[in-house]
Order: sequence, then C-alpha cells, then structure tokens
Amino acid sequence: MDKPIAFELHGPEFIPSQYDKHIVRRLSSMDGQYLDLETYQEMLTKDDLLLYEVYEIERPEVAGELLHGVSIVHPGKVGQEYFMTKGHFHAVLDTAEVYYCLKGQGLMVLETPEGEWAVEDLSPGRVLYVPPRWAHRSVNTANQGDLIIFFIYPGHSGHDYGTIEQQGFRKLVIDGAGQPTVIDNPRWKASGVNR
Ligand code: 6PG
Ligand code: NI
Repeated sequence: MDKPIAFELHGPEFIPSQYDKHIVRRLSSMDGQYLDLETYQEMLTKDDLLLYEVYEIERPEVAGELLHGVSIVHPGKVGQEYFMTKGHFHAVLDTAEVYYCLKGQGLMVLETPEGEWAVEDLSPGRVLYVPPRWAHRSVNTANQGDLIIFFIYPGHSGHDYGTIEQQGFRKLVIDGAGQPTVIDNPRWKASGVNR
C-alpha cells in the first residue's frame, strides 16, 4: 500500500523539493512550430536555447493515479513569437487537466480535434481547468521572468505530440507592438485525425 507523499513547493523558483523527472526542452524540439522558420533556423544555428523545463513527480500511469508537477517556461522570442511549450493532446483524449499559475504572465492556447479553440490568461493565483479533448500549450508572454505553472492530470492520460507536430495549433501568440496578440496560424491544417 502506497504511503502519502509530500513535498515543498516555494517561490521564487518553485522547484519541487523532491521530483522524479526533470524534462528539459530546447529550441531543437520545436521544429516547424514557430512561424518565422528563417529566424528559428538562424537562432538554432547559434544556440540550441533552453525554452522550458518540467519537474514531474512520477506515479503509476494508471487510472486513479494523478500525475503532477511544475512546468517553467523561460522568457524569450523566436521572431515575434513568444517561447512556448510543444503542446499536446492527451493520448487518452477524454482526460482533463488542472493548471495553477504560480508565477509570471502567459497564455494557454487550447483547441479540440473539431477545431474549436480558446486562449486563456495565466497569471499568479489563476486556476485553469482544461476539459477532456482540449490540446494545450503554455506561452510565456512576459519580456522578463519565468512562467511557472503547477499541473495535475490523470495517470493514464499519456501524451499525443504527433498531431500537434503535424497540424500545429490554430492560433499563435505574437508580440504585437508590445502586446501579446493572438493570430491565426497560416500553416494550421486540420490533421483530419477524426478522434
Ligand atoms: C502534461 C501537462 C504538462 C505538460 C508541460 C510541458 O500533460 O504532462 O500538460 O505537464 O507536459 O506543461 O508541455 P509539453 O508536454 O507540451 O511539452
Ligand atoms: Ni497535458
């Protein structure tokens, strides 16, 4: 029988006092996701920059368990577009997620397989419930400072990155005259994956 587990999560860094996985995502893992492909390639040639990190507390990936942790999106831009996570559907589509913003300023870009989309604010103290079927991507819209979010999702969810790598998100977030601005993704194409 499992024993209760506790860890500390305190600012300013909000790195869990204990974690099992530390995932590091660099520019190279975002191939084809940024609008300005030329600037992306130039930046990558210079330096495979660190975009974001995830600290996860491992639990059995089964229904009934809850996976949880912290994702930290660093500040920066590729052309006019802010640093963001890869984004994904859950492999088990009918699994939700809760996000609790601990620090920073950002947006969560969301969409369903049917093409419905939403963009939600992320700011300290804000809780976002991501319903089942909604793909999700976090975007750090601050010029300085990390976007730090605590997340919880069902153990059996899994991750489907392939659909997003293939079709992208319908909406992108750019720095429009100093303001985070949501635009259509000209390269979005419905993957036709009828899920
Ligand atoms: C999840 C969560 C969350 C997410 C991170 C990194 O399902 O695991 O949504 O932990 O993984 O925010 O984002 P990417 O998984 O899209 O790289
Ligand atoms: Ni998720």
